[in-house]
Amino acid sequence: MEFKVRDITLADRGSIQIEWASKHMPVVNIIGNEFEKLKPLRNIRIAAVLHVTKETAVLIKTLIRGGAEVWLAASNPMSTQDDVAAALARDGVHVFAWKGETQEEYFWAINKVAECEPHIVIDDGGDLHVYLHTQKVDIATKVYGGTEETTTGVLRLKAMEKDGILRYPVIAVNNALTKYLFDNRYGTGQSTVDGILRATNMLLAGKTVVVAGYGWVGRGIAWRIRGMGARVIVTEVNPIRALEAVMDGFDVMKMDRAAEVGDIFITATGNIDVITKDHYLKMKNGVILANSGHFDVEVSVKDLDSIATSKRELRECVTEYTLPNGRRLYLLGKGRLVNLVCAEGHPSEVMDMSFANQALSVKYIVERYTSLKKKVYDVPIELDMEVAELKLKSMNIEIDRLTESQRKYIESWSL
Ligand code: NAD
Ligand code: ADE
Repeated sequence: MEFKVRDITLADRGSIQIEWASKHMPVVNIIGNEFEKLKPLRNIRIAAVLHVTKETAVLIKTLIRGGAEVWLAASNPMSTQDDVAAALARDGVHVFAWKGETQEEYFWAINKVAECEPHIVIDDGGDLHVYLHTQKVDIATKVYGGTEETTTGVLRLKAMEKDGILRYPVIAVNNALTKYLFDNRYGTGQSTVDGILRATNMLLAGKTVVVAGYGWVGRGIAWRIRGMGARVIVTEVNPIRALEAVMDGFDVMKMDRAAEVGDIFITATGNIDVITKDHYLKMKNGVILANSGHFDVEVSVKDLDSIATSKRELRECVTEYTLPNGRRLYLLGKGRLVNLVCAEGHPSEVMDMSFANQALSVKYIVERYTSLKKKVYDVPIELDMEVAELKLKSMNIEIDRLTESQRKYIESWSL
């Protein structure tokens, strides 16, 4: 069995991390028990490119319980938890991932999983889908279907669909209500704060924090940070979302102005060049720069590198840049996902819902791929509801049910 991890002797430690995550992922475990009985993924090869975390390990083990064979690579060169990767390798997963991959190694690992000739492709960010469609077209044409975990990946897949080049159906797991309302908002909200605090141990109370993007991720971050006593400024390009931020009580302004007053900047837009050279030159001495969007293109590292007179690694996860004006700026996690690079990513409780959607979507594709079109589908609402029901049940929360007369009333139009 082939694998490549940082250090296989970390496996014992990784197994304990996975056990800890599993205790907080009851919905995935219920699905896993069902999978174990019915084996819906028997003889299915799955290629997965996900952040290799303890929560991902719980998902992978669930797919294996369902009968699948899994190949796994990282969806970010810096997000792998090496102990978890080691534990998975020891347990028979073909895992090719370690923290601190070069760009070349990152794509080497993606190539390794692509070459398993998968029936199902699970991706976070779209790199595996794009790789298959551009470098391994013969393999892509034989794929039954795929799933996509994050907003940026869904946007890329929709662009592929629009260009008419999509070779297999994909379920946009990100777009499930039980995914983005919880994972993107509460998961990223909390874990982004966690990443910034682990990297800097700074006090947030009294600071001015600029959050770029008021989508699901941005609003989660803004609300959490405000809760810790910071003044929060939001920047946006969408007038409706900007208005929402205003009415949620945040200051809203252009990045040009925010650059002059912020102490901490966090990007969450899924877009490029949100903070660039001109902004850096306006910033105060000591500013912290962090990104929670999928790719490391939001806080322009290229611009920082091009204007800095010197640069040094100050502490784990913190790079100090000295500018020509003598001011120093501090970049966290090299501009990559701060919550996964400087902390452990989302808590297991929210990944429980995201990965329940993944597991159910994979089963859905295996059962129906012959009738699906080569397009991007939302997670069927009945699966989304099932995840919500199971999650509530696991929390011992009961809710009211519509009576027959209530159902009739809300479904009728007569007086
Ligand atoms: P979203 O589409 O809901 O929100 C993005 C927002 O950014 C939009 O409101 C958009 O108008 C705004 N925006 C775009 N360009 C901008 C600019 N130049 N300046 C200011 N605002 C701008 O997306 P989302 O679900 O919030 O996801 C955002 C990013 O976070 C994506 O890249 C997504 O893949 C990623 N993500 C990361 C994690 C994580 O663990 N760190 C988790 C989920 C999603
Ligand atoms: N994305 C954000 N947090 C994550 C986690 N804990 N595991 C896998 N993917 C993630």
